[in-house]
Amino acid sequence: MAKQRVLSGMQPSGFLHLGNLMGALDNWRKLQDQYECYYFIADWHALTTNYADTSKIRTYVHEMVIDWLAAGLDPEKAVLFRQSFVPEHAVLHVLLSMSTPLPWLERVPTYKEKIEQIQDKDMNTYGFLGYPVLQAADILIYKAHFVPVGVDQLPHLELTREIGRRFDQFYGEVFPEPQPLMTEYPKLPGTDGRKMSKSYNNCLYLSDSPEVIAKKVMAMVTDPARVRRQDPGNPDVCPLFTLDKIFAPKEWCDHVNVECRRAGIGCVDDKKELLKHLIAYLAPIQEKRKELVAQPGRIAEIIAEGSGKARAVAQKTLAEVTEAMKL
Ligand code: TRP
Repeated sequence: MAKQRVLSGMQPSGFLHLGNLMGALDNWRKLQDQYECYYFIADWHALTTNYADTSKIRTYVHEMVIDWLAAGLDPEKAVLFRQSFVPEHAVLHVLLSMSTPLPWLERVPTYKEKIEQIQDKDMNTYGFLGYPVLQAADILIYKAHFVPVGVDQLPHLELTREIGRRFDQFYGEVFPEPQPLMTEYPKLPGTDGRKMSKSYNNCLYLSDSPEVIAKKVMAMVTDPARVRRQDPGNPDVCPLFTLDKIFAPKEWCDHVNVECRRAGIGCVDDKKELLKHLIAYLAPIQEKRKELVAQPGRIAEIIAEGSGKARAVAQKTLAEVTEAMKL
């Protein structure tokens, strides 16, 4: 039996951090052994918020591919491509836009939220409103069965199903309904204790050197009520302990869980221990990163090749769409 298809995309809006690795990339890596996977760089989607300044987009695209490969995505197993190299996404987007009711887009929860949240840019654009239609085109053009995403993307996926269904009602059955593959990974805390996010400037990046990681971890926020070394602490509210539970061995976590509460160990002791494990965890990724940074031509080649493969699939679907619509 043919493998089922998985598709997901990521916006090239910065370097990838530990939260992206644990929350998405690691899952993508595992899926490539089981499914026919398509992973793409959503560079058009990045324009919906960053249309006015495109100066960094090429760097981010390049660095993101390096982060992907360093984290174990394998171009021999998964198709890695770039959205703007497959113009068929845009053609399907325009066709789907014809039948997508405006209120469906206006009621997407992230839409109004973001328009209000983002104050420094004018988000009152056609492209931003149409963001979910483009995302629907991304997914439907590969007839993906599964889309690995975080909870924040569920409304977009629901809309994709509705857009696909409406198309099928008008023109006949073309699109299967894509299902979410929920990434259940809890949000990683950043160095300030809030969720790790590049907009908070609290990230540990895959591209950070061990020295930089050390500096950031040593400055990390712990239980805010534990001011002096001799104060007992509470691991339950300590972001450092959350990272311990992921990266340090169980024995260490058990030890901290007892000793921190009676001031038997200090935050610095815990930071030093965590650092050892974090740096060891990141070492193979960073080694691979270094190799890849030295071969920019290879990165471009991988994406060109992957985009060619993706394009062949996209063209096939688009031909069916054109036929169904009698264009
Ligand atoms: N909207 C997604 C995000 O911001 C990126 C994306 C674009 C995507 N097209 C997609 C994800 C298709 C999954 C499938 O994270």
